Amino acid sequence: MNVLRSALYGMLPRSRRESRAEPGQAVLSTKTAAALLCAACSLPAGLELSEVPYYGLSPPVYPSPLGNGSTDARWASAYGRARDLVSRMTVEEKANVTRGWPGICVGNTGDVPRLGIPSLCFADGPAGLRGQEFVSAFPAGIHVAATFDRDLMLEYGRAIGREFRGRGVNVALGPVAGPLGRVARGGRNWEGLSNDPYLAGVGMGAITRGIQEAGVIATPKHWLLNEQEFRRRRTPLGEAISANVDDRTLHELYVFPFMDALREGAGAVMCSYQRANHSYACQNSKLLNGILKTELGFEGFVVSDWDAQMSGVASANAGLDLVMPNAGFWGAELVQAVRNGSVSEERLGDMAARILASWYYLHQENDYPPPAIYTNMQKHFPVDVQADHAKLIEEIGAAGTVLVKNINNTLPFKKPRFLCVYGYDATVKAGPWQNRDRYGGGYEDNFGWNTLNGTLITAGGSGGNSPPYVVSPFQALQERLSKDRGILRWDFYSENPTPYVNADACLVFINAYASESFDRTSLTDDFSDRLVLNVASWCANTIVVVHSAGIRTVDAWITHPNVTATLFAGLPGQESGHALAAVLYGDVNPSGRLPYTVARAEADYGALLNSSVSAARFPEANFTERLWIDYRAFDRDALAPRFEFGFGLSYTSFAYAGLAVSLLRRAPAAPAEFPDQSVPVVQGGHPALWEVVAVVRCTVTNTGAVEGAEVAQLYVGVPGAGEDSPVRQLRGFVKVGPLVPGQAREAVFELTRRDLSVWDVVAQQWRLRRGRYAVWVGASSRDLRLAGDFVIE
Ligand SMILES: *[C@@H]1O[C@H](CO)[C@@H](O)[C@H](O)[C@H]1NC(C)=O
Ligand SMILES: *[C@@H]1O[C@H](CO)[C@@H](O)[C@H](O)[C@H]1NC(C)=O
Ligand SMILES: *[C@@H]1O[C@H](CO)[C@@H](O)[C@H](O)[C@H]1NC(C)=O
Ligand SMILES: *[C@@H]1O[C@H](CO)[C@@H](O)[C@H](O)[C@H]1NC(C)=O
Ligand SMILES: *[C@@H]1O[C@H](CO)[C@@H](O)[C@H](O)[C@H]1NC(C)=O
Ligand SMILES: *[C@@H]1O[C@H](CO)[C@@H](O)[C@H](O)[C@H]1NC(C)=O
Ligand SMILES: *[C@@H]1O[C@H](CO)[C@@H](O)[C@H](O)[C@H]1NC(C)=O
Ligand SMILES: *[C@@H]1O[C@H](CO)[C@@H](O)[C@H](O)[C@H]1NC(C)=O
Ligand SMILES: *[C@@H]1O[C@H](CO)[C@@H](O)[C@H](O)[C@H]1NC(C)=O
Repeated sequence: MNVLRSALYGMLPRSRRESRAEPGQAVLSTKTAAALLCAACSLPAGLELSEVPYYGLSPPVYPSPLGNGSTDARWASAYGRARDLVSRMTVEEKANVTRGWPGICVGNTGDVPRLGIPSLCFADGPAGLRGQEFVSAFPAGIHVAATFDRDLMLEYGRAIGREFRGRGVNVALGPVAGPLGRVARGGRNWEGLSNDPYLAGVGMGAITRGIQEAGVIATPKHWLLNEQEFRRRRTPLGEAISANVDDRTLHELYVFPFMDALREGAGAVMCSYQRANHSYACQNSKLLNGILKTELGFEGFVVSDWDAQMSGVASANAGLDLVMPNAGFWGAELVQAVRNGSVSEERLGDMAARILASWYYLHQENDYPPPAIYTNMQKHFPVDVQADHAKLIEEIGAAGTVLVKNINNTLPFKKPRFLCVYGYDATVKAGPWQNRDRYGGGYEDNFGWNTLNGTLITAGGSGGNSPPYVVSPFQALQERLSKDRGILRWDFYSENPTPYVNADACLVFINAYASESFDRTSLTDDFSDRLVLNVASWCANTIVVVHSAGIRTVDAWITHPNVTATLFAGLPGQESGHALAAVLYGDVNPSGRLPYTVARAEADYGALLNSSVSAARFPEANFTERLWIDYRAFDRDALAPRFEFGFGLSYTSFAYAGLAVSLLRRAPAAPAEFPDQSVPVVQGGHPALWEVVAVVRCTVTNTGAVEGAEVAQLYVGVPGAGEDSPVRQLRGFVKVGPLVPGQAREAVFELTRRDLSVWDVVAQQWRLRRGRYAVWVGASSRDLRLAGDFVIE
């Protein structure tokens, strides 16, 4: 498999690893309609358009909308200043700010010293500043999603933002909603915030807000449909995979979470490597000019993924504003293209204005710290930005830990005196495999890849991070046991450890790794499954902890009577062990929920198990499943999952009662089917999409014996559900509590027009359907405790 490649990836500085020349590009640039079509297809020389198979055509949308900030006072002020600056810039200067230059950051824009415009510093990644010292390693996106906690999502964004700002990084490359997680084995699903667009959207909005509150430009990525790693880029075999998606699915699943980030004022968006409807995403005018800049009113700039630009004139006209990490097809060529009229000076001015407007929008012209970015080879004074973020990391680590099995209150521990710890995932010192038992000396660029045989706190590629230290589960258990004068026995290597019949409990730690640049080939592995079964064959109290970069199937052992408890501990970041111990010992009552469906068998994911594997010159992934991914498909097929989306146990129990649904009636006769089209679009889409149309309430009571919080979830079936729409979809969640035993609290769910609408492909608008909306509130997507409905006439 591609482990070696991933390891090498981790060791190279990003500028080197991502700047490979792409062979055989052809750039078509005439202005006729046919040429626009070809430009959108990026045909290699000598190939006729008719030879290109297609599922959907990506319609041309030109010209590129001019950013003007006219619908938002803060953007308007930013644009006033940006336009003024641009009016004083030469063509060369404008072209300079729209390109990357080699520099100390992962990405650096050109500067214009004459006008005081600095080079902007871009850095990875979504879970903390990667490749640096004295920075924190936060939990990965999927772990944050598992908290189902809006406040923690916001705090996460704020803390990450403060670290980037403290090191003078202008632009943070995250958060991630692409991939969404369509493919169960997708290599990067863990970077994102779950395959449910509502949950992902809440996270995208909160994290974007948090990052930008710190004055850092957030970069929601990857726009759009970057759902697999296999052939995500052009290779000697041919073009990148084309994600072919119908319009309704595109909006309701893949665009949806980005809307939340844009609504929070996201200053940048990163376009992805692969093609969409046969047109490369960074030159797809429908995605950039059309959906992003017109329909969603995006005011910021579009930056290419590193070396994702596939053409010069075509990408400029399709709406790309900034190429990274070098000049790509721009630089002097863009100046030339403006001189010969292939790209208008207005477009170039808009590209520069969008970048500068984002800079002003975040007030970065005032005293922004200069980049403090180093490699450990350099002698320097450390700029420590960790603050007290370790506390938040531990809190999120515990809040995103999902308890899925707990027979007869095995957990929380009751002061055990003798614990056995097994498995490679328990410790950072994972043994005599090559020379991997170290951290530092170049390896810190990306901790993720280094954990294949050690505890998994993050996964691989640009979404990984660089922990200052790692508290392993083993370390944290030692700390606890030593306080209780207990004892530990451990074996991190054997598949069949020596039995200790008098242990209070045996903890088995296993993991499932993934990385950017390849998709997973299995959701399980035999070594880990055999290890669990071997321990369970003699240990009547076997507790399994799974750290995983996405779905991990567990049917090889989950029903074993000696497996008494199981936790999905996600990718929790640097405080991993402390977070886990807090849950095991009951300091924290678990409230994390699965942000995906864990099937009984891998085959249950059907065609969405694997990425689309093809050796074709024009490989395709037809998203023919449309809206039915993950739990939407399991619900349609009445297929029993092992653990359903939204599932997670607590040390207490909760009762739900008193469902009340009220439809808000707004003057004159709202809700009309469509939003009022006389109202202009703002960033994030039509403002009416965010109006609350209905409110659902219920009461949640702690009926158990200990304090705890409950994640109450709201699911909606739109009129037509079960026919042309999923049976039910998550459209609200509230973390209620903590509640002491006997305490009750009201949960309130606000449903916006967008939450209740479908995308009408004919009208090209979000539309409320007339008829009955079914509403459920419960503890998971299958554990529905209350049902009701309302009617829109
Ligand atoms: C995708 O759909 C198109 C049009 O229906 C078809 O020609 C093509 O073979 C499909 N590709 C794959 C990989 O299924
Ligand atoms: C892709 O093609 C489908 C089917 O023709 C169309 O509905 C959709 O809008 C297209 N999307 C893009 C981004 O081009
Ligand atoms: C601002 O840009 C939007 C989107 O391109 C456009 O609809 C609007 O008319 C523009 N407003 C002004 C004042 O130019
Ligand atoms: C463009 O930016 C580079 C890198 O910051 C700088 O060296 C160069 O002088 C700039 N060119 C112009 C025309 O401002
Ligand atoms: C204009 O310049 C660009 C960039 O050098 C080049 O790709 C394109 O072919 C030129 N177009 C014409 C019509 O000369
Ligand atoms: C749980 O405890 C009860 C009462 O002690 C016992 O009867 C039952 O067998 C236990 N269940 C399991 C699965 O161990
Ligand atoms: C883990 O280490 C063992 C030997 O210690 C080695 O054989 C195995 O390939 C390693 N596993 C992974 C996934 O790297
Ligand atoms: C999924 O891909 C694996 C290789 O990674 C292959 O062996 C398997 O047959 C594929 N399964 C399905 C259902 O396509
Ligand atoms: C469970 O553990 C006990 C030892 O306590 C052992 O005797 C028994 O065989 C185990 N059960 C299974 C199904 O392996």
